[in-house]
Amino acid sequence: MSRLSESMKQELKQIQPSSILKFNQEISKVPDMVKLTLGEPDFNTPDHVKQAAIHSIENNESHYTNSRGIDGLRKAASKFLSDKYHVHYDPETQILITTGATEGIFSSLTAMLNPGDSVIIPTPIFPIYIPDTMLNGAKPIFLDTSDNGFILSPEKLQETIEANKDTVKAVVLNFPSNPTGVTYNRDEVQALADVLKQYDIFVLSDEIYSELTYGEHHVSMGELLPDQTILLNGVSKSHAMTGWRIGLVCGPADVITEIGKVHQFAITSATTNAQVAAEEAFKNGPDDGVAMRKIYQQRRDLLLAGLKDAGFECASPKGAFYLFAKIPANLNQDSAAFCYELAKEAKVAVIPGASFGPGGEGYVRISYAASTADLKKAVERIQKFVDQH
Ligand SMILES: Cc1ncc(COP(=O)(O)O)c(C=O)c1O
Repeated sequence: MSRLSESMKQELKQIQPSSILKFNQEISKVPDMVKLTLGEPDFNTPDHVKQAAIHSIENNESHYTNSRGIDGLRKAASKFLSDKYHVHYDPETQILITTGATEGIFSSLTAMLNPGDSVIIPTPIFPIYIPDTMLNGAKPIFLDTSDNGFILSPEKLQETIEANKDTVKAVVLNFPSNPTGVTYNRDEVQALADVLKQYDIFVLSDEIYSELTYGEHHVSMGELLPDQTILLNGVSKSHAMTGWRIGLVCGPADVITEIGKVHQFAITSATTNAQVAAEEAFKNGPDDGVAMRKIYQQRRDLLLAGLKDAGFECASPKGAFYLFAKIPANLNQDSAAFCYELAKEAKVAVIPGASFGPGGEGYVRISYAASTADLKKAVERIQKFVDQH
């Protein structure tokens, strides 16, 4: 170890590299593994989107853009969000184009947090908000939702805000949820908004899976509580564009100006050709996700039925592309140990529930963003594994 590494940022010492990526890398080396680990669409980016990017490269669009993003993309994103979710963001002042929602989360938390602040994080949840909070010298306050079907109740939210009133700066919401697939209907979003509006706190509402709901249409916190909401979205999941790295941060103009400073100093502007591609996705492919959604739903039903037969309990998820399944009582309840056993013996890779914070232990997250053939193979192998134990 070098002498100087010891003197680096203290907060980093409390933070470990992503356990999800570590597990995925380890099992990726094993031949014939069926991998249901990753949170990304297995579909290709739509052709019209690819063509737009090719033209942009050929037209030598190889320069920095406005730090907030190209006008066309901000306008197309504003229209997309308004048409789909009745949220109204001025493309000039209220939308920032980031390098994926990931950068949006980082820039937003960095812009809002002071050391000593706290952030309420309902769990199990996509873990990224936790290190981003800690890196800024703030404290995550975990709110375990596993005893309520993974739904954050307004009562529990209010109780937690009241108990931490002096330090709470923000509440994170992610719906449809990674990892549970749970989402909120209009009444549920309204009930949470009714609590939040009583306090001067932000809600960082990560709605990146908004196009992937099965049943009820997605309702955005940005519609019901625009003054306090920082809305995150993007093209990664809706248009199968994870590698293009384009996200959106939307909110009140003065808030976006502050977040825009962090964004500017960190990355200047998102990749130009990827922005052009995302503009095309929103403008001419607003429903590209619909065909994908239908296929995800069929896969979800297949996987759900197979897992239930094998003895896993699992609430029927209403969004995203994950099942959060309870490990049957006769099997190893330590989710990490269970996942290593399953990977080694059955050659099926899924993510330990413990990776998603309090309430996740005893569960596994299974991604159905995989081919039907792979899902069928996984179900057969899991069934065999269960029979043998
Ligand atoms: C809830 C959630 N937010 C954000 C992201 C990251 O999105 P992006 O690829 O746009 O950075 C993911 C990716 O898995 C996610 O599940």
